[in-house]
Amino acid sequence: EKGGYDYFMLKEIAEQPRAVADTLLGRIGRDGRLSLDEMHITDAQLREIDKIVIIACGTSYHAGLIAKYAIEHWAGLPCEVEVASEFRYRDPILNSRTLVIAISQSGESMDTLMAVRHAREQRARVLCICNVNGSTMPRECDGVLYTHAGPEVGVAATKTFLTQLVAVYLIALYIAQVRGTKWGDEVFAMVQLLATMPEKVEQVLSTMGPVRELARSLADVKSVLFLGRHVGFPVALEGALKLKELAYMHAEGFAAGELKHGPIALIEEGLPVIVVVPPRARDVLHDKIVSNIQEIRARGARTIVIAEEGDTSVVPYSDTLIEVPAVPTLLQPLVATIPLQVFSCELATAKGHDVDQPRNLAKSVTVE
Ligand code: M6R
Repeated sequence: EKGGYDYFMLKEIAEQPRAVADTLLGRIGRDGRLSLDEMHITDAQLREIDKIVIIACGTSYHAGLIAKYAIEHWAGLPCEVEVASEFRYRDPILNSRTLVIAISQSGESMDTLMAVRHAREQRARVLCICNVNGSTMPRECDGVLYTHAGPEVGVAATKTFLTQLVAVYLIALYIAQVRGTKWGDEVFAMVQLLATMPEKVEQVLSTMGPVRELARSLADVKSVLFLGRHVGFPVALEGALKLKELAYMHAEGFAAGELKHGPIALIEEGLPVIVVVPPRARDVLHDKIVSNIQEIRARGARTIVIAEEGDTSVVPYSDTLIEVPAVPTLLQPLVATIPLQVFSCELATAKGHDVDQPRNLAKSVTVE
C-alpha cells in the first residue's frame, strides 16, 4: 500500500531513514566493532584477498562506483567496478584471491547473474549485496549481505540505493577491521558516524520543499547536466539516471574535472547544471569544483548547487543552493543523493508521468 502517498516512489523516498537504520541494525557491536558473519567468509579468507571486483547494473552500479572509493581508502585493496553486462565479454583476470561483489537490489538481473556465474567459473569468491530474500543471486553466491530496505515497488531505485551504500561501507570498514589497515582510528570513528546517518537522512528529507519547487519550475527544460567529483561523481551519474528514467529527459553526469575536456561546450544560456560539491574538508577538490561552478555560470549555466550546510564559498555562484548536513566525504552520497531523487520524482510528476511505472522499463530485468 502507498500509505497515503500518491506514488510508491514518494513513500520509498520517505522510508529512507528507517531503511538505513534497519540495514545497520545488529551489525555494529556494543564495542563499536562490526560483525558480518552472514557473509560466510572467514577472517583468514578475507586476509588472503588481494583484489576486489564489483559488478552491477544501473543504480546498483553507481553504488559500486562509490564502493570503490570506500574500499580503496579504508580497506587498502585494489578495486575495479564494471557494468555487469560487459564483464564476461572481455577476459577479466580473476582467481581464488579475488573477491567479487555483485550488487543487485532484486537478485534477479540477468546481466549480473551471468557475471556472477562467470566469476565463479574462474574460482573467484563471490559475495552479493541484495535486498530480496530467497532471490536467485544469493543462492548462487558464496555469501550474501542483505540490505533491509523492505520491498521496493517503484521502478526507480531509491531506498535500496541508500541501503546498498550502507552495505558497501560496512563491507569496506569490516575488511579494514579484519586486516588492520593503517586507518584503525578512522575506521572506528566512521562506524560511529554511520550509526548517526538515519538522523542525517531524516534531516535532508525535512528540507526538500524548495527542491520540489525548483523541479516544477524546470519541467519544460530539454536537458540537465550533473557534475561531481570523487564520490560526488557517481552521485551525479545517479541523478542523471533518475531524470532519464522518470522524466524522459536528456540528462548526463560528468566528473567535473572532465568539463574542460569537452562537455563544457554544451553549456549555454539557461542550461540547468546540478553540481555536487565535496565537503570543505577536502579543500583541494572543493576549491576546484567551486571554480568549475564559476566557469559554467560565466557561460550562462543556471547553477543548482548541493553543498554542505554553512559552505558560504558557493553562495555567490549558486542560482539555487541546496544544503545537506556536513558529513565526511565518503559518506556524503547518503545525503547528497536524496535531493536528486526528489528532484526527478517531482519534475516527472509535473510532466504528468507515472513515476512508479516509467515507460519501457521493468523493475527487474531478467533478460540479457
Ligand atoms: O535489481 P538490480 O539492482 O540488479 O537492478 C539493476 C538496475 O536494473 C536498476 O538499478 C535500474 O537501473 C533502476 N531502475 C534505476 O532506478
